Amino acid sequence: MIVIQQLIAREILDSRGIPTVEVELTLSNGLITVASVPSGASTGEHEACELRDGNWQRYLGKGVLKAVVNVNDVIAPTLLNQSPLDQASIDQQLIVLDGTLNKSHLGANAILAVSLAVAKAAAICRQLPLFASLNVGTAQAMSIPAPMMNIINGGAHANNGLNFQEFMIMPLGFDDFPRALQAGVEIFQALKKILNTRGFSTSVGDEGGFAPALASHRAALDLILEAINSAGYSAGTQIFLSLDLASSEFYQEGLYHLSCENLHLDAAALVDYLSALVEDYPILSIEDAMAENDWAGWQLLTLRLGHKVQLVGDDLFVTNTRLLQRGIDQHIANAILIKPNQIGTLTETMAAIQCAKRAGYQTIVSHRSGETEDTTIADLAVSLAADQIKTGSLCRTDRMAKYNQLLRISADKAYTLAYAGPRILQCLANMKVT
Ligand code: PGA
Ligand code: ZN
Repeated sequence: MIVIQQLIAREILDSRGIPTVEVELTLSNGLITVASVPSGASTGEHEACELRDGNWQRYLGKGVLKAVVNVNDVIAPTLLNQSPLDQASIDQQLIVLDGTLNKSHLGANAILAVSLAVAKAAAICRQLPLFASLNVGTAQAMSIPAPMMNIINGGAHANNGLNFQEFMIMPLGFDDFPRALQAGVEIFQALKKILNTRGFSTSVGDEGGFAPALASHRAALDLILEAINSAGYSAGTQIFLSLDLASSEFYQEGLYHLSCENLHLDAAALVDYLSALVEDYPILSIEDAMAENDWAGWQLLTLRLGHKVQLVGDDLFVTNTRLLQRGIDQHIANAILIKPNQIGTLTETMAAIQCAKRAGYQTIVSHRSGETEDTTIADLAVSLAADQIKTGSLCRTDRMAKYNQLLRISADKAYTLAYAGPRILQCLANMKVT
């Protein structure tokens, strides 16, 4: 039996130059796997704990040496000589070793890096690609997720004044992933040209999207429609729009402050504002339209728009099955964003996807704004046939690495994997029509 022979953690840097955890796992057959974890900027209040050193002498307190020590001194001795094949058992041991509800003892960054390295080791033992190994035992037909590409950045990911954090395009009306990706890239390039011509900045935000200083959210949507058109695609049949408001960032004392438009809206007025956008633009998905603790606002939103568009809970659900179940029970939202580091183990992440699927919620596997070269989320999205993947814009290696991994998986002749775009299009476009 192949077993875990060595686990070593180290501090590396993410796409923002901020420390994060990488774990290197050596198997008894000498093969090595490496996994690292991302980090958010607009983090949900109820996310698992990202353990940081807090020592201001190093990396402004953001070092992760405590998490590194926790892997090397606490986790490694427990997992040595175990087979990596039983992910659920390994993750359960990590949860017990930590002993807290939010993984604050060992750190979700320490725990997740180990959990992912173990999954990669299991794939080696099974002699399968990671996506196929993750699929073992799930009885789930795999598919390639439809991307949500974040081509204009605002909110906490840029300094351009836009309050909405992400303006995304969804290339759904294509038969395969490579063609859909190509459309996204061509639209991104067209947008760059338009911005240049109008004298706007073409520098990019944290997720690789442009961050022009625009006067309103509608101005951003109009520019994107123009870019779609100019690249030769059709908005509303091939390409659709998607927003992430990350509204907890501009919610204060019961009001949503859209400072760039000088609007200060209560939940009902924000729902009106969004309904008008949905009427006027081919928007199929809105994420975190309401703040993470504004469940009453979410209820209002879902009643009004839940039959028309995908309403995604990110900070609301934080990949936590307990919070998701509350949403399902109260008929709140109809989709969940899945971020492994919000919950801290692969097993719990996969449980959240499966729980959402059972309830008929759409699933979107997601990166974080601070990323590494680790591409596990691409494999994860394929393995459980997540409907969509959110992994940023069409530039910067931290984002492109995930798209490139999906290209590799699409080209794997050993598997015939359908592109989820047409399936999502049918599901979401039907919603919008009714
Ligand atoms: P974050 O943003 O990684 O900064 O939290 C991504 C998102 O809100 O979806
Ligand atoms: Zn979000």
